[in-house]
Order: sequence, then C-alpha cells, then structure tokens
Amino acid sequence: MKLSARKILITGASSGIGREACKRLLNDGHQVIGIARDFSKFPCDDDAFTPITIDLEAVETLPKQLQTLAKTQSNVDAIVCCAGRGQFGSLEEFSYEQIRSLIDLNFISQAFIARTFLPILKQQQSGTLIFIGSEAALRGSRKGSIYCASKFAVRGLAQALRDECSKSGVSVSIINPGMVKSEFFDELPFSHGDEEDNYLLPEDVVDAIALIINARGSNVIDEINLSPLKNVVQSKPVN
Ligand SMILES: NC(=O)c1ccc[n+]([C@@H]2O[C@H](COP(=O)([O-])OP(=O)(O)OC[C@H]3O[C@@H](n4cnc5c(N)ncnc54)[C@H](OP(=O)(O)O)[C@@H]3O)[C@@H](O)[C@H]2O)c1
Repeated sequence: MKLSARKILITGASSGIGREACKRLLNDGHQVIGIARDFSKFPCDDDAFTPITIDLEAVETLPKQLQTLAKTQSNVDAIVCCAGRGQFGSLEEFSYEQIRSLIDLNFISQAFIARTFLPILKQQQSGTLIFIGSEAALRGSRKGSIYCASKFAVRGLAQALRDECSKSGVSVSIINPGMVKSEFFDELPFSHGDEEDNYLLPEDVVDAIALIINARGSNVIDEINLSPLKNVVQSKPVN
C-alpha cells in the first residue's frame, strides 16, 4: 500500500543522514522542508523541497525564527531532528563557550523545535517526532563528556515526550546510530577507517527513519539502536 504524501521537516538537511533522508522522502513522494546553514552541499531543485536557512546554534534568536517557520508551515506531519556536530576531547580542553555551544546545537535547538511544533502536532491529534541520538546517548566514553551529555539529554527528552504526547496522538522516537560514514568526521582527528564493516551508511539510518515514519499510527517504535558490525576508532594521520 502506498502511504499518502506527508509534510516532513528535517534539520541537518544539507549533509550526511539528514540529506539522505531528504532524498529518500522526496523520492517517496513526500513534501520536505529542510533546515541547515549551507545548502550549497545539497543543491536540490525538486519542487517538493523547501530549504530554510537557520543557524540552530544561535539559540537567542531561534525561538522567534521557529515561531515564524511554524506560522508558514503549520501543517507538518513529521519532524526529524538530525542537525548536530561532534566535538571531542577531555573536558579541560573545552572552553566554557565551547561547552555551551555544543549543548546549544545538539540539545537546546532540538528542545526548542519540539517546543515550537508539538502544540501543532497535538492539535492535529497526529504526528511523528524523531530525534537522531547516538550510541553516545547510551553510554559515556572517554573524550566524549560534552557530546555524550548532549546526546543523553536528547534521549531523556525523547523518552519523556514519548510518555507525554501519546494521549495526543503524537509518537516520539529516537534512533541511536554508531559511526556513520558522513561529513561528521571531516573535522575530527579520528574516524571509522575504510573497512566497510566499520561504519553505517547514512542510508542505513534513513531505513530506520522510514520504518518509523511508515509505522501504523497506533504503533510507536520508541528507540532504535544500530551500529556497524565492527566498532573501530582510527586516529587520522597528522599532516
Ligand atoms: N556520523 C556519525 O557517526 C553519527 C553517529 C551517531 C549520531 N550522529 C548524529 O547524527 C546527526 C547527523 O550527523 P551526520 O553524520 O549526518 O553529520 P553531518 O554530515 O556533519 O551533518 C550535520 C548536519 O547538521 C547541520 N548543522 C550543523 N551545525 C548546524 C547549525 N549550527 N545550524 C543548523 N544546522 C547545522 C549541518 O548543516 P550545515 O553545516 O549546512 O549547517 C548538516 O546538515 C548528528 O546529530 C550527529 O550527532 C552521527
């Protein structure tokens, strides 16, 4: 059965998992609103795609920008909160400002998006909210203190909202991937290396997103954890 076309908001739409999700959902006939800062990484002339440029880290101005967006896109059916970045190191290597900005992007912006759009979804008595967490939301690890904290916070938010929203017909899910081959690692001093067994593809995470979006209305997939066959962390050579 072909499911009817929906309007889906995706953050982190210009790259990696979010970009792949946009491509798949557009291909499946949905309308997609993408949020990112730089869409030159995803030139897309599909009429069903609306790119919106917002810096999600700018949390002081974010509520106003999101309220404006919600007014123009009031009938959203699903939201995929995917934007985020990795920053790793021992806590003392972070400045106070770096701690705040990583939490702002990886957690506060997700909470603000949920805060803005949940009243709309609740009023519709239907909707799907998907957070992209991480394996770092499941256990803390060395050099991941702030990244893990941001992802634990997203997972706590997702679990609490799952409980809070079910009576209003809104489902909330979180996907926790292990290492995914994407631009995420471009600026990091480590990666998964080249072996295929060491990484997920963005498409693998998009399969999980599609599974949640296409689930029967009364069926909630609370959480999906997926990881590559081998868990390998390789330092990049220093030039
Ligand atoms: N790759 C992995 O191994 C992995 C594993 C587990 C979880 N995750 C999570 O999956 C999510 C997506 O990661 P990815 O692998 O797809 O990484 P990616 O390829 O680097 O994509 C990150 C996306 O977030 C957007 N973004 C970053 N900063 C932003 C800002 N200030 N305002 C608005 N958008 C911003 C980027 O767009 P612009 O730069 O154009 O703004 C981009 O579209 C992240 O939350 C990440 O933590 C990734």
